[in-house]
Amino acid sequence: MAAQLLVALLALASLGAASEPDCKELVKPLVLDSHSPIYGKWVLHVGSWDESGLKNDLVLVSSSWVELTASSDSGVITLYWADRLNNTCLQGLANATVSGITSHTTFNINGHTSYHDGKFYETCSDCLLSEDTTLLPDGESKGRYLFLFTRTGNLEPSELETFKKQAACLKFPPEYHFVGTDLCPDSRETASPAVENTENETE
Ligand SMILES: *[C@@H]1O[C@H](CO)[C@@H](O)[C@H](O)[C@H]1NC(C)=O
Ligand SMILES: *[C@@H]1O[C@H](CO)[C@@H](O)[C@H](O)[C@H]1NC(C)=O
Repeated sequence: MAAQLLVALLALASLGAASEPDCKELVKPLVLDSHSPIYGKWVLHVGSWDESGLKNDLVLVSSSWVELTASSDSGVITLYWADRLNNTCLQGLANATVSGITSHTTFNINGHTSYHDGKFYETCSDCLLSEDTTLLPDGESKGRYLFLFTRTGNLEPSELETFKKQAACLKFPPEYHFVGTDLCPDSRETASPAVENTENETE
């Protein structure tokens, strides 16, 4: 009997809290291992940012897709990316080293090196929610992006609402950049990426 009373009280308590978005339920980081639902090709639908400097870069992006592949090393994920940026296609390969719930990726883009810490969160099925902290070479954060990818690039309105709640829980301001699905072609099928010739890698 006492146990039943306790269950009833707990149920009432959670009803009271239901009006607040339950951030604990909404933002659950994914553990990154070979079973993580992160692999394959993903098309960006929307991005958010928490520093205005990052917005300037993101608004130039009109479409973006990535493909995540497990590598022979369980601590490394291979990442191919292709962005349509200011009407040109930029693409490249990068290795993401993962441990626990975080990934660390060094991108070489036209000779520029950029460092990113990533986290992935549970989200809609056939969606990928990625929080990307852009790091300066000294490891200091320049700010965070939040990206929602889907398999097709399309998203249900209810899923967008959930994304907005998740973004709010992660302390992103309610500003979003939506991208199209005019994707850059996969350059691996034709030529080797032209962006892998950075000489002075800093790591
Ligand atoms: C966009 O592309 C145009 C034409 O190639 C170039 O003149 C301009 O500087 C580019 N803008 C940015 C922000 O890269
Ligand atoms: C990723 O790691 C593999 C194995 O260490 C290496 O051969 C490859 O060049 C790396 N790719 C990039 C883009 O750094």
